[in-house]
Amino acid sequence: MEWTKELLYRQLEEVSNEELAVLKSKVDNCPWRQSFHIQPNTGLLNDPNGFSYFNGEYHLFYQWFPLGPVHGLKYWYHVKSKDLVHWENDGIGVKPNKYYDSHGAYSGSAIEHKNNLYLLYTGNTRDEHWVRHPFQCIAIMGKRGGITKLDTPVISDVPHGYTDHFRDPKVWKVGELFYAIIGAQRSNKTGCVVLYSSPDLFKWTFEGEIRTKMDSFGYMWECPDYFELQNQGVLIFSPQGIEPEGDKYQNIYQSGYVLGKKLDLLQKVMEHGEFIELDRGFDFYAPQTTIDSSGRRLLVGWMGLPEIKYPTDQNGWAHCLTIPRELSVQNGKLIQQPVKELESLRKQEARTKNIINSELKMINSFTGTSYEMICEFKNIDASEFGIEFRTSKKEKTVLTYDVIEKKVILDRTFSGKTIDSPFGTIRKCSQELKQDKIKIHMFVDVSSVEIFINDGEEVITSRIFPKGESTGIRFFASRGSVKLQAVKWDY
Ligand code: FRU
Repeated sequence: MEWTKELLYRQLEEVSNEELAVLKSKVDNCPWRQSFHIQPNTGLLNDPNGFSYFNGEYHLFYQWFPLGPVHGLKYWYHVKSKDLVHWENDGIGVKPNKYYDSHGAYSGSAIEHKNNLYLLYTGNTRDEHWVRHPFQCIAIMGKRGGITKLDTPVISDVPHGYTDHFRDPKVWKVGELFYAIIGAQRSNKTGCVVLYSSPDLFKWTFEGEIRTKMDSFGYMWECPDYFELQNQGVLIFSPQGIEPEGDKYQNIYQSGYVLGKKLDLLQKVMEHGEFIELDRGFDFYAPQTTIDSSGRRLLVGWMGLPEIKYPTDQNGWAHCLTIPRELSVQNGKLIQQPVKELESLRKQEARTKNIINSELKMINSFTGTSYEMICEFKNIDASEFGIEFRTSKKEKTVLTYDVIEKKVILDRTFSGKTIDSPFGTIRKCSQELKQDKIKIHMFVDVSSVEIFINDGEEVITSRIFPKGESTGIRFFASRGSVKLQAVKWDY
């Protein structure tokens, strides 16, 4: 089917129930529906939006095109949860039905104000020449869940010196003032973020660009986020147009952060260290954070990337969100850990202690398609070792630690149905052993894996599309042996 502009920009109301039912049954017949991740009922999910804790619940919205696995007219879809684990679908949050968001309710964030949750987002519009005109807009959610949009946008112009790539406001409050950063492209086609302030979320003043050390780092910065953690400033953004460099920047677009002094809101300067990728896998983009009632800084990302076709496309849907991660700062880096609440998913438990050498080792009860597994490798005298998972005769996804290069390597060459992408099938990242040990904490779902290395020093997130029968787990070591201690819980 060819996705013409007309088909891409249909409102949901224009679509017949029969058409929706056909699409839904295609989706329901997909062998790669996830079991514990947030995924769309039909169509395409992308960025997490409006992540917040409000009125005793976690709220998350996501960019949603309901009608197929393509980037058409975007809605905000609403999900909520009491525990960050079990999410309830709550229907459409923001519909793109006004002149200021006629071509999509694009990404944005949420903040509580006067007992309501304010959603600040980009209204994407296109004129008759298909030129973009972005607006920044507000929708207000009450405690009973109803969401109302304002009649007019709160920011209607792009300031001089920037192009129409101007979107994804992230809002926060300091004292009595609200601040928002927006992802932007300068007229010279480089990416940056700009700062606005507001006393009431309705009237906004353009404060200027935030100066960083990255004057020429890609052509657009999408989905910026700023927060302070353990007395430091963290600026997250997703730059487009970065060339690969060694093991880094291997995906079509990147997602990472700089850490440094707190953002100087008067001078609009951020002093910071190097740009660090948040995730070293194949499928991670446009993350957003929030703070919850216990003061935790939580992050959720889109487990997908733009402009890449995925095997689920043929079943009428694409993508999911990552599990939530809790952030902390250690030695000048962000540490990301799966939220503790996920432990509530643990069912049947299996444990092993073993010596792994040159034979592939399978262990009783270590199988499955949806599980959590923690492996500690020590007494390492092999040159490499690791885990093959979601295996069968023909399929395997392989995680290797290369002792000589000191690198963790994820190989999805033989994971199953291949992803039609020119960006390769192997990802690597450097990682030292810790007291001669390495800890691998993984969350495997029907079509994904999230791997936390050494308690969150690195995270590797990837979609994989194995057959349902590929349930094996095998441990291996070459030229020597390692001692393995592992525990696994079915989910
Ligand atoms: C990032 C992004 C955002 C935009 C949204 C549209 O994936 O391109 O910049 O607001 O997706 O769906």
